[in-house]
Amino acid sequence: MPFHIAIDGPVAAGKGTISRLVAERLGFLYVDTGAMYRMTAFLAIKNKVKLNDEEGLAKLAASAKMEMRTPTEDEKDGRLSTILLDGEDVSWKIRTEKVSLGASSVAKLAKVRQLLVKKQQEIAEGQDVIMEGRDITYRVLPHADLKIFLTGSDVVRAKRRLTQLLTKGEDVSFNQVLSDLATRDEQDMTRETDPLTIVPDAVVIDTSDLSIQQVVDLIVNKANILLENK
Ligand code: DC
Repeated sequence: MPFHIAIDGPVAAGKGTISRLVAERLGFLYVDTGAMYRMTAFLAIKNKVKLNDEEGLAKLAASAKMEMRTPTEDEKDGRLSTILLDGEDVSWKIRTEKVSLGASSVAKLAKVRQLLVKKQQEIAEGQDVIMEGRDITYRVLPHADLKIFLTGSDVVRAKRRLTQLLTKGEDVSFNQVLSDLATRDEQDMTRETDPLTIVPDAVVIDTSDLSIQQVVDLIVNKANILLENK
């Protein structure tokens, strides 16, 4: 039986960075499910499909070839995963603020979610994974061996996001990032279909005052204890 770690949490809680490091320590596959919502939004913007056109977006997502892999040596430019959309490397193109807000909008649509959840479950079938998103602990992998809810204060998360965006050369202010983060969190937590929630069996980790390494150690230790008894 494969071992599954499910991580949910709000924007910029550190899910990606931490999951990548845990995946390396344990030899698991890291799956960034947000990238799939981002690819759908990216396609919508490119093809001028409205972000609330449920049928149109579901069709786009269904026919798209979405692939993810651990970055190869020559792809190591700070990315956590290499994301391929119909064969094109979109790892950075899907990280702009425009695509982020778009992803949060398309993620409200039940048909889009159904489709992407299925793709995610197929990836996890038969292999050890650490998968992160908003609905992993209760929808995508409800029987995960270890469930984590990662969070952090709004200001700490906005600072992290600002640093990421500035590093990539986006021209944004702290206030803009804080406001976008609040908009996305609000949409992600109040949508009708599968909003971000804390399940009772999740371990809640507030990352505001912890180093990345401390959080990684915490999760790896918990996983190792469970793996020994599996
Ligand atoms: O984790 P992220 O910021 O890359 O996710 C982008 C958006 O996709 C986020 O605002 C909410 C949505 N999302 C979701 O609804 N369910 C997931 N499992 C992952 C992401």
